[in-house]
Amino acid sequence: MKTQMRNLISLLLLLLLGLQLSSVFSWKRDEFRNCNQTPFCKRARNRKPGFCTLEAQEVAISDGELTAKLLPKRNQENNPDQDEEQIKPLILSLSVYQEGIVRLKIDEDPKLDPPKKRFEVPDVILPEFLNTKIWLQRYSTETIGGDASPSSVVYLSDGYEAVLRHDPFEVYVREKGGNRVVSLNSHGLFDFEQLRAKKEGDDWEESFRGHTDTRPYGPQSISFDVSFYGADFVYGIPEHASSLALKPTRGPGIDYSEPYRLFNLDVFEYLHDSPFGLYGSIPLMFSHGKSGGGSGFFWLNAAEMQIDVLGSGWDADSDISLPSSQSRIDTFWMSEAGIVDTFFFVGPGPKDLLRQYTSVTGRPAMPQLFATAYHQCRWNYRDEEDVENVDSKFDEHDIPYDVLWLDIEHTDGKRYFTWDSVLFPHPEEMQRKLAAKGRHMVTIVDPHIKRDESFHLHKEATQKGYYVKDASGNDYDGWCWPGSSSYPDMLNREIRSWCSEKFSFENYVGSTPSLFIWNDMNEPSVFNGPEVTMPRDALHEGGVEHRELHNVYGYYFHMASSDGLVKRGDGKERPFVLSRAFFAGSQRHGAVWTGDNTADWDQLRVSVPMILTLGLSGISFAGADVGGFFGNPEPELLVRWYQLGAYYPFFRGHAHQDTKRREPWLFGERNTELIRDAIHMRYMLLPYYYTLFREANVTGVPVVRPLWMEFPSDEATFSNDEAFMVGSGLLVQGVYTERARHASVYLPGKQSWYDLRTGAVYKGGKTYKLDISEECIPAFLKAGTIIPRKDRFRRSSTQMTNDPYTLVVALNSSQEAEGELYVDDGKSFQFEQGAYIHRRFIFKDGKLTSINIPPTGPGKARFSSECMIERIILLGYSAKPKNALIEPSKRQAEIEYGPLLVKPTQGLAFATVRKPNIPITGDWTIKIL
Ligand code: NOJ
Repeated sequence: MKTQMRNLISLLLLLLLGLQLSSVFSWKRDEFRNCNQTPFCKRARNRKPGFCTLEAQEVAISDGELTAKLLPKRNQENNPDQDEEQIKPLILSLSVYQEGIVRLKIDEDPKLDPPKKRFEVPDVILPEFLNTKIWLQRYSTETIGGDASPSSVVYLSDGYEAVLRHDPFEVYVREKGGNRVVSLNSHGLFDFEQLRAKKEGDDWEESFRGHTDTRPYGPQSISFDVSFYGADFVYGIPEHASSLALKPTRGPGIDYSEPYRLFNLDVFEYLHDSPFGLYGSIPLMFSHGKSGGGSGFFWLNAAEMQIDVLGSGWDADSDISLPSSQSRIDTFWMSEAGIVDTFFFVGPGPKDLLRQYTSVTGRPAMPQLFATAYHQCRWNYRDEEDVENVDSKFDEHDIPYDVLWLDIEHTDGKRYFTWDSVLFPHPEEMQRKLAAKGRHMVTIVDPHIKRDESFHLHKEATQKGYYVKDASGNDYDGWCWPGSSSYPDMLNREIRSWCSEKFSFENYVGSTPSLFIWNDMNEPSVFNGPEVTMPRDALHEGGVEHRELHNVYGYYFHMASSDGLVKRGDGKERPFVLSRAFFAGSQRHGAVWTGDNTADWDQLRVSVPMILTLGLSGISFAGADVGGFFGNPEPELLVRWYQLGAYYPFFRGHAHQDTKRREPWLFGERNTELIRDAIHMRYMLLPYYYTLFREANVTGVPVVRPLWMEFPSDEATFSNDEAFMVGSGLLVQGVYTERARHASVYLPGKQSWYDLRTGAVYKGGKTYKLDISEECIPAFLKAGTIIPRKDRFRRSSTQMTNDPYTLVVALNSSQEAEGELYVDDGKSFQFEQGAYIHRRFIFKDGKLTSINIPPTGPGKARFSSECMIERIILLGYSAKPKNALIEPSKRQAEIEYGPLLVKPTQGLAFATVRKPNIPITGDWTIKIL
């Protein structure tokens, strides 16, 4: 009896604890709307295939584009669901750009005086892209299947065609005369709610948790289906804490019952597996499949969006039949407002898709070198003494780091661009001390401005009328860190310019050239607003409603901050700004992180698909808070997080103010050593990372990539999101469970792989169950790769500038390997004028050769470096060489046998050319004798 009683009490305690924990670590689901509580989403989801009754009429070529009017079919009864006013035609235009990119726009007819102009997102599409428009002269016609009327066909490039099917209305891209690639409205789900005058009895208001949205313009949503052909999986549409391969959200046996939501939100303690919208939104989806079929679709629209991935069988009772010879994934896109402004990408390879998409929205900015190293952050480093202490402890423990971050508490009462004069009385001196060690500082600047009459920013913004207005035209007043706050209207160019001026050394008193910026809460976060954000009926420049541009607000703030840093340095220095909110094109402005994650193993795991998805969407410079923001990680989790985070493109430790201090030396000697090793690994690989950042900057291909991007025909990689590639040469597998003794690792391809530390060889195309230790997570070099390293340990990346390089040559079965090294001044924009060194290393026929990759642009600037190569490690060399001969100098260099890593743990011995001392700049050959 007693035991039963005790069991019962334990059970109750457990339950209570469980309840408590779930309230401490739980997403507040009720604070946010689901699809059923979002009228446009609910309406759209209820539509059945074939709902659309539009047909294309008056098809013509105008201004080099294919144009048409979309009207309900001539001889059809109006759909009873449709308002009679919706018989106003929609205007369609289809234009063609370089690389077969098709842009399809559909909007209301401005000549018919709609109640207002619908919002088109400015400042995202590159003007250079628009210049690549191919001026259409003609189109051909063709009758498809049993259609009653012909379709219009436009030739793209490389054997692709765009088809505008008139009746039923459909747009698709196909291979010339054959297979479809990607299509819109193939299931007839297209709907466009046209703006109309309010009639008596119309009740357009919407309420959610005590917030009323006045919705003065009524329903204005748009929805349509998009199909990807030859696809086994679809990817993209960040930001969600979810798998890399998107899961079906509608149809039989679905994984999620809600669509993927794109609505920038400040979500407290987000779940690790959910389609719920987080801080940023990129309405871009890519497909991939074994038959090769990669294609992409981007909808430039900044209103709330909801996207369904339709599982096979979702349309079981539909009469519409599509070509069945190709595998296909159907999706359904819904947006609250805006226009149809969409782009179709033909790929076919994953890297082609990235190049095509980033030719539209911009390539990722080239960061300064220091920003690619390790960042130490916490909410908050208390005062100058704390900063000094943390800084010196890194040195004491021989751990390199480059940037120390200050969160909101460093300011005078959360007035950004100010300092708390008691805690930070000497900000410039503090930054100078860091700078003397080659280190930098980052301070936080959020978009909300404290409504305090004595705060100069508030005074100015009020006087100039720079704030976003509420629905009744007054400055919108919301609650954020400083209490009552207002928000500059970032849509307005003049206001952006005003914001960016605030970063000048003159205006930002206490800032120095080594200070950089962190933008947070820029969704924007409003603690007392609907769904913790700004009301949708708030007003921006030109009467644009917040609902129309919500998802691009943070993008603009990021842009203004980044422009501000460029301006303060007279355009000479590259900016660094980290942002939480983002939109398509944010890659041009800086880095992004995945927000407030939690210190648990599931969140460690989901950081990988989240970062990979950002990379696939153009945002290559991304990371997650190492250690987890909320909660206190066990030392083992913290160590594993450092081991994984050391490979994130953006590598920063960060923690909530209520957590225990967790600088790397606080968990005992062994854990300090493990964290030190992880950070050292990143520093050794910095030359490789920097080279990859440049690749991203030139091609759009991200620094870290899903395995399928490098092995596109290997099906086993398609949904693998526990491992990833760093560039094309390094595979990293995270360890996501406590006390793991083994890791299951799939090594793709026909070539072999070398363990990154030991050099042990594994054959590709197999899954291995590997013994693992606490020392590191599994990482492998692909045979056939050469990677550059810098092995000398310094305090910061800046101090490594003149250090010599080590080249690791991982030979394949033909005894060949290739790799690259990119170097510039790490700081300025001179690289854009050609001031860089870019070498290609080729190992073939027993010789390593270094060749110049000449600058492609017109610039004449030059960059030189005295750096030498001090060591070349040969992995998998089949003979036992004795000597190396350097050409053209005809010098000899010794071969010694040593480990792959400087500090070997279980090192094998590899032939190493010792001190070849050849410059990284010149052309040379080393013959292995
Ligand atoms: C929320 C951010 O996500 C977090 O990183 C930061 O520490 C806090 N805001 C305080 O600024």
